This record gives sequence, structure tokens and C-alpha cells, in this order.
Amino acid sequence: MAYNLLKGKRGIIFGALDTNSIAWKVAEKAHEEGATFTLTNAPVALRMGTINELAEKTNSQVIPADATSLEDLENLINQSMEVLGGKLDFILHSIGMSPNVRKNRKYPDLNYDFYHKTVDVSAMSFHKVMQVSRKLDAISDWGSVLALTYIAAQRVFPYYGDMADAKSMLESIARSFGVVYGKEKKIRVNTISQSPTPTTAGTGVKGFNALLDYTDMISPLGNASAEDCANFCITMFSDLTRMITMQNIYHDGGYSTTGVSIEVMEKVLGKEV
Ligand SMILES: NC(=O)c1ccc[n+]([C@@H]2O[C@H](COP(=O)([O-])OP(=O)(O)OC[C@H]3O[C@@H](n4cnc5c(N)ncnc54)[C@H](O)[C@@H]3O)[C@@H](O)[C@H]2O)c1
Repeated sequence: MAYNLLKGKRGIIFGALDTNSIAWKVAEKAHEEGATFTLTNAPVALRMGTINELAEKTNSQVIPADATSLEDLENLINQSMEVLGGKLDFILHSIGMSPNVRKNRKYPDLNYDFYHKTVDVSAMSFHKVMQVSRKLDAISDWGSVLALTYIAAQRVFPYYGDMADAKSMLESIARSFGVVYGKEKKIRVNTISQSPTPTTAGTGVKGFNALLDYTDMISPLGNASAEDCANFCITMFSDLTRMITMQNIYHDGGYSTTGVSIEVMEKVLGKEV
């Protein structure tokens, strides 16, 4: 059911690679809720993915941009304002990648060139998006900027490696840029900390399926799906959440504040609790 929550709003959605991507679901929902937006991804991902299908479905234009390139971002943001006919109201940063995780480099044995890449792609790019937007004065007052993150920023999880560091930095950027953008233009900046979700990025982490089962067993509501996450993103882009900024909000079925569940204890101990 649609509520027209984003009627008349313009945006940019980063990170839709295929139908499993969280950004893909956000784009579908944003379209249903009346928004117009451009879709973007790294040129190499555009060749591999199926984004044109989504563009057709949501009546949007695809503009390639490597989110680590200031030049690409400037072009993307300028072109988006031109195509959409005005300043932006929302931006979704749904980007993450670690060559160390991909190549299974353990945390005490990181490759530092890879580490730079992880941080640049997964965290610094968020700063770059906002720095370029601010220079171009591209976001309207009360606009909403969101990035997706994971609880490994606060707590240690196996095999998440240097992505944990990148996510900590990403969440810090949301606070530090949020104070500037809030004071200057009432623009909100937040991160959403999502449950493990079966996507290309998610399943690229070793042990992902076990983690998915475990967190589902711990969370009172179970894991939050990509579609649930998209619904939450839409409310964060809407005018109904105007006073939320500089927050990291858990969207995880209650996982982050649960100690342990009876189900997990019984499985581990092999007896009724
Ligand atoms: N899947 C999960 O379990 C999970 C959980 C919590 C948070 N997240 C976060 O959600 C976000 C979206 O990931 P997803 O799970 O939908 O996976 P996904 O693989 O579908 O999306 C990741 C996207 O990042 C893009 N990307 C990589 N390098 C880029 C670059 N240089 N420039 C522009 N784009 C680039 C990829 O092309 C891809 O579209 C990520 O920030 C991820 O860390 C995912």
C-alpha cells in the first residue's frame, strides 16, 4: 500500500546492483511513494548488474559514478538536478566493499592498499557525497541523507574484518556532517544499522548463512528483510521524521538490545532452559 509519502520529492539512490540489493527495494518503494530519482552505481557494477530493468520500472535515469571520485560525484549530482528539474530532497548511500574481506585477509594481517580501498569506498565516499552536494548547494532545506551500516561498528563479529572499521567511520561521518548540514540547512544525516540481509555484499562475508540463522534466533522479531529496510528508509526520507538527525538507528528486529534468547541457549547447551 502506498501513502504518497515522497510525493514531489527528488533524490539519488546509490548501490542498486541486482534485485537482492537493499537499494533496489528502496528504489521500488520510493517510486511507489511518488518520488522521482536517479539511480547510480560504479561503472563496473553497471556492466555486471541489471540496473536498467529497475530504471525502466521506476522511470528513472541511470548515471554512472564511482563514489570515490569527486569528479564523478560532481557530474552525477549536477546531472541529477538537471534531469529531475531541481534540488534534491533525499540521498541513499547504499555502498560497501572490502577487498580484504573478499580475499579473506584476516584482521591482524590486512593488506593496507586494500584497507585504503575499503575505507574509501565504504566510508569516505559518504563524506565525499555530502561535501560535493554542499558545494553545489544541491540539497533542499529539510532534505534527508541516509547511509546503511552494520552493528559490527560497535561489536565484534567474525569475518567482518576491516569493514567494521569502515562502518564505525561511516557512522561518525553521519554525526560530524549532520551537525554542519543541520545548522546550515536543516538537512538531516543518519545511518540505519540493518540486520544481516542476503545480498551480494552480505553473502560475500564468510559464514554469512550461519550468522543469518543466529541473529534470526536472537532477535525477538526475527531478522529485518531488505524490504522492511526499504520501508524504513522511505519514512526517513519523508517529512514524518523531520527532527531525526545524527543518529545511528538499529533496524534489526531487536537484535542489538537482546542479550541471548532461550532458543540459542537451548541449542548451545543441548537442554531445556
Ligand atoms: N547485506 C547485509 O547483510 C547488510 C547488513 C547491514 C548493512 N548493509 C549495508 O547495506 C549497503 C548495501 O549493501 P547490500 O547488502 O544491498 O549489497 P549490494 O552488494 O547489493 O550493494 C552494495 C553496492 O555497493 C556498490 N559499490 C561498490 N563499490 C562502489 C563504488 N566504488 N562506487 C559506487 N558504488 C559502489 C556495489 O556496486 C553495490 O551496488 C552496504 O553499505 C552494506 O554494507 C548490508
